[in-house]
Amino acid sequence: MQAWSGRFSEPVDERVKRFTASVLFDQRLASFDIAGSLAHARMLASRGILSLDDLAHIERGMAIIAADVEAGRFRWSVDLEDVHLNIERRLTELVGDAGKRLHTARSRNDQVATDVRLWLRETIDRCLSLLADLRGALLDLAESHAATIMPGFTHLQVAQPVTFGHHLMAYVEMFERDAERLADARRRVNRLPLGAAALAGTGYPIDREQVARALGFEGICRNSLDAVSDRDFAIEFCACAALAMTHLSRLSEELILWMSPRFGFIDLADRFCTGSSIMPQKKNPDVPELVRGKTGRVNGHLVALLTLMKAQPLAYNKDNQEDKEPLFDTADTLVDSLAVYAAMMRGVTVNAPAMARAAAEGFSTATDLADYLVRKGLPFREAHEAVARAVRAAQAQGRDLAELPLDALRAFSPLVEADVYAVLTLEGSVASRTVAGGTAPAQVRAAVAEARRRLPGATGG
Ligand code: ARG
Repeated sequence: MQAWSGRFSEPVDERVKRFTASVLFDQRLASFDIAGSLAHARMLASRGILSLDDLAHIERGMAIIAADVEAGRFRWSVDLEDVHLNIERRLTELVGDAGKRLHTARSRNDQVATDVRLWLRETIDRCLSLLADLRGALLDLAESHAATIMPGFTHLQVAQPVTFGHHLMAYVEMFERDAERLADARRRVNRLPLGAAALAGTGYPIDREQVARALGFEGICRNSLDAVSDRDFAIEFCACAALAMTHLSRLSEELILWMSPRFGFIDLADRFCTGSSIMPQKKNPDVPELVRGKTGRVNGHLVALLTLMKAQPLAYNKDNQEDKEPLFDTADTLVDSLAVYAAMMRGVTVNAPAMARAAAEGFSTATDLADYLVRKGLPFREAHEAVARAVRAAQAQGRDLAELPLDALRAFSPLVEADVYAVLTLEGSVASRTVAGGTAPAQVRAAVAEARRRLPGATGG
């Protein structure tokens, strides 16, 4: 029954069959398995290891199988263990002996590693395009709010005024690094294991470079033992995904806070929120909450794969079959989260007056007052001290610094003059931060334009 049953004196236990089968989850590799098999068969034929006749049969059979898989009519069987044996058995049913010759100079060990790499390469490309789309959405919002003032926080306490555009651009930076990491990991994913066979390579005069070119790989895995046994490329992807999810999770946390009535800084479009079945007034930010929650499972998958790998002796061990569910779930979670996020960010509305009010509370221009005194000649530490006393006095009177009369301010330093009120405004504060990477609206607009030019597919104009 099994492709390998010749060695055995009794059929495999039913429980073992179900326990060891992977077809319920690895069938999603089918189209990549077929592509890999076709490239392998064409190479075998061009090297005279397989007849052209057999190749034609294999191509004909694989076309039928591919169409059946695509249409959802392929009949997967747990008795046939995994995606590879299911497809090979069906091929043999369809085209006879040619199907049985396909596995020449190959093992499922190099086959599965090839399939996963092909699948992951495509998945990374999808993530890269979704990350670009999300950055596009954030850039549009940042551009419209390059001068919208909000409180910048440290320790979740109002610290200094920043612009909302500047705050969003921090996330654009994070997501750009996520894309860089994925693109870098892709180079190591994009290597061909086929030809490593079970573990030691093969004696057939195959041409691995030909197969690599046919499948769009940048080169071959150089060592056959490494080719079939390491899954570091999958772990790397999970690490990249964990970081990207962590960035999404931080943004989620902020959206949730900003949307709460206590902040009231933003609103998410109704189509991205859900209600409560008991409290009629509620509009809940379920999407960001779920993204924040799903970050936990992605982090968990990374640890699962690291743990899966850590004690395996070379070369292939069946442990590696356990790489797939965490890897697939990581990819599905990241893809879904990125896709919903880009759309959601396009539906954010901003309550600029609420942001400005919050920025005006909490003495957010105190540093600006200290800098003003420094410009008038006071050493920074003394200026800090004078402003701290002014803040204490204003707080006791329930006023903001800008609401203290000139005489009151001069009591803390005789260097204060009437021009002080210009630096105590929120607009004056943000406009003064013109350093590269600073929050001044002009800097934010320049940062948006540069980030747009770096987006994939940008024309540079
Ligand atoms: N389903 C297996 C996996 O995912 C394919 C490789 C099986 N190789 C073996 N020697 N049993 O790892």
